[in-house]
Amino acid sequence: MHAAITAVAGHLPDHILTNADLVKMVDTNDEWIRSRTGIEERRILKEPGLATSDMGAEAVKELLKKRGIDATEIDLIIVATVTADMHFPATANLIAHKVGAVNSWGYDLSAACSGFLFALATGAQFIEGGRYKKVVVVGADKMSSIVDYSDRTTCILFGDAAAAVLLEPTEENGIIDHKLHVDGSGAQQLRQKAGGSLHPPTHATVDAKDHVIYQDGPSVFKAAVKGMADVSYEIMERNQLEPDDVAWLVPHQANLRIIDATQRRMGLPHEKVMINIQKYGNTTAATIPLCLRDWESKLKKGDNLILAAFGGGFTWGAVYLKWAYDTKA
Ligand code: COA
Repeated sequence: MHAAITAVAGHLPDHILTNADLVKMVDTNDEWIRSRTGIEERRILKEPGLATSDMGAEAVKELLKKRGIDATEIDLIIVATVTADMHFPATANLIAHKVGAVNSWGYDLSAACSGFLFALATGAQFIEGGRYKKVVVVGADKMSSIVDYSDRTTCILFGDAAAAVLLEPTEENGIIDHKLHVDGSGAQQLRQKAGGSLHPPTHATVDAKDHVIYQDGPSVFKAAVKGMADVSYEIMERNQLEPDDVAWLVPHQANLRIIDATQRRMGLPHEKVMINIQKYGNTTAATIPLCLRDWESKLKKGDNLILAAFGGGFTWGAVYLKWAYDTKA
């Protein structure tokens, strides 16, 4: 038995932050942002009082509507996020409550930009074990809550969004293989320095801006190019997939140049790569399911998809799946 994605949905906040808007905030320009990252605009959740769980709940409601099932049928909700509404309770609990998933349990999973893949691989185990029939995997991040909008090296990159998939048992197709990695030494290059048990919030940590994303961009870039390209190639090799066998690469959307490097290493043509970074920027755990949502109408039953990501931690990995359904017109 395999676990298959049987529905996808997403939620994007209405407010659009363009490169032109950023030019008014920091010393940058549209040409630099486009050529170095591929990003043109991103969505920001501006309304006070709304958080990651609100975007996640909207995505899950849409998911249930598309699949035509009730929230009470959900067995488990796994939420990949680094911007939980609060340290506890888990964002999964809040989403379950907001959508009325009263028969579900759930938990959050922290793997930054690889979070969705880690959660997908984890959710698949519950289905493959035979006891779970409907597992919802959410990737959701309100990155604007941890971005310093006076730091031009990070504020241009990130956006807010949520997206979700439903996993159900299937005899054919579904998730075939995954290859996931962590390397904690990467914490030096990409992290949120304060707010956890190591450096609890104090006036000093706030004054030092230690609650926002710290990133050594160029070293993360190098690690991401190698990590994402290598693991994507390795999962193809392990499953005897030639470039012609792969219908789509679904890459984490961090930087167009990282995506290009992965595509080249896999030997794929540009037309087989899902790219929407120009519209949403890096939405961390939401990028991959958002791509699936945007490309859903083009996906055909039996298509071989390689999902690949690299993120803070470091975390990286790839998932190989066979798409399980044709979208009805
Ligand atoms: N606008 C204009 N110039 C900028 C800028 C901006 N927003 N940000 C940085 N610069 C400048 C730098 O100050 C530097 O100037 P200098 O040469 O005078 O010192 C120059 O542009 C090049 O900076 P550098 O950091 O080397 O650029 P880069 O090509 O590595 O691109 C990133 C920077 C952040 C886009 C890139 O490193 C990256 O994408 N890293 C990975 C980030 C990521 O994906 N993180 C999420 C987890 S995967």
